[in-house]
Amino acid sequence: MGRYLVAAAITIMSASGTIAAHAQTGAETYKAKCMMCHAVDGSASTPAGKAMKAIPFSSPDLVKASDADLIAATTNGKGKMPAYTSKLTAPQIKDVVAYIRTLQK
Ligand code: HEC
Repeated sequence: MGRYLVAAAITIMSASGTIAAHAQTGAETYKAKCMMCHAVDGSASTPAGKAMKAIPFSSPDLVKASDADLIAATTNGKGKMPAYTSKLTAPQIKDVVAYIRTLQK
């Protein structure tokens, strides 16, 4: 499992070189903390994302969800997703949610 994740992470990192410069801080946070489960494109198609049944950010429910909902889920955790309240600051969470919005388009 560990080796599988590393291989997936390397594949994802080499594919992500073209991410636009906007939302830079959120993008960096996303790559460092979220991508192993949510995948480079937010599809949750990584082994960890699939194993935990994470939902794609492009799913209608998450497109409809308010920023406050997504910020709350990231801050407090949800289901199998860990809480980030002690790992990220409130502005970092706000930026990473703004970045997630760019993955929904
Ligand atoms: C260890 C795997 C994992 C990591 C790392 C992870 N997530 Fe998740 N995430 C999940 C899973 C699983 C769900 C689905 C939770 C559920 O609905 O049961 C989820 C759901 C979400 C949702 C949707 C919540 C909702 O309202 O349904 C958001 C937003 C989200 N994650 C943001 C993030 C952000 C931002 C990060 C990085 C700071 C992150 N996640 C890191 C596993 C992860």
